[in-house]
Amino acid sequence: MPLLPPKADVETKNILRKAISAGRALALLNGALQNLPNPTLFLDTIYLQEAKASSEVENIITTNDELYQSLVADRKIENAATKEVLSYKEALWLGLEGLKTKPFITTNLCIKIVQCIKQNSASIRATPGTTLSTPQGEVIYTPPSGESVIREKLANLETFINEDNGADALIKMALMHYQFEAIHPFADGNGRTGRILLLLYLKKSGLLDIPAIYLSEYIIKNKATYYQKLRGITERNEWEPYILYMLDMIEETSARGLKRLNKIITAMNKTAEEIKKVLPKVYSKDLIEILFRLPYTKRQHLIDEGIGNPKTVGSYLIALEENGFLKSVKVGKEKLYLNQQLLKILEA
Ligand SMILES: Nc1ncnc2c1ncn2[C@@H]1O[C@H](COP(=O)(O)OP(=O)(O)O)[C@@H](O)[C@H]1O
Ligand SMILES: [Mg+2]
Repeated sequence: MPLLPPKADVETKNILRKAISAGRALALLNGALQNLPNPTLFLDTIYLQEAKASSEVENIITTNDELYQSLVADRKIENAATKEVLSYKEALWLGLEGLKTKPFITTNLCIKIVQCIKQNSASIRATPGTTLSTPQGEVIYTPPSGESVIREKLANLETFINEDNGADALIKMALMHYQFEAIHPFADGNGRTGRILLLLYLKKSGLLDIPAIYLSEYIIKNKATYYQKLRGITERNEWEPYILYMLDMIEETSARGLKRLNKIITAMNKTAEEIKKVLPKVYSKDLIEILFRLPYTKRQHLIDEGIGNPKTVGSYLIALEENGFLKSVKVGKEKLYLNQQLLKILEA
């Protein structure tokens, strides 16, 4: 497999045009996120959506209910897929934290990410024999083998990512993703690590200060095309269709993300007004934020945020349920409270 940058023309007229419209859509989302009164409020939710969809690309399937309940409830998580999705979310946070201390995407950071996703101590593939096959068993791609070869290719990728060579950042992001997947440095978890790197790259390059974007939403909807475009590069050196796909992913998920964000903010403001009206004693800005931080909440969250003592917050939650703002669900021995409105927007 050739090193980066590719020999092919990756700045065709079509690509440059698409990079402009994708960049514009992304900038709108970035602006909206930055203008939020509390920009980190929705991060856990958005990252969980991303974790769920990115894992789903790899056929690791769980439901929103199961996932959000598991995140909030105290019980032990039995479902393997749910565990893996929650680990993915942790890996995303870990990657972002890593960037804060050292603003580079490195081989070591990738290893930390994959270890967090897989919850094991896996590292660069050392034994040969890894291939990518169709579900029918037909081998479609054989990545490079041998740890030192893989490390050399990753070092080239690292330099490419972290050096400013004047190229458009979104185009570079697409090149980086293909290269990472083609190197396929790990025995498993390459797809998911590679998609976490996309968010890290958007953050690192300053295109999205708060990388709250749900990119895998696009891939899950256009999964066959994703594989087909990756294959097109390996087999026919067709970079343009793949880069256009990745740019369209940015453009579409930025626009959808912005719409969803606006819907959540509208619902949040409306709920605030209604609670003020019917339950003036219960209302506080902090309470509204708790109700919209994640679809599920519980007494302890309200106590932790200083809303009141256990007795007070218990009565608040009962009043909120009686007035239709929340719906209680028994999970194990605990009672969780669901904001159905929020879950509906997330699932739309
Ligand atoms: N033809 C291909 N060339 C390069 N990479 C590919 C190709 N087909 C699929 N991939 C990548 O391989 C990933 C799957 O690899 P895998 O290590 O199993 O990831 P994960 O464990 O996250 O499931 C896909 O998500 C995709 O990104
Ligand atoms: Mg896999």
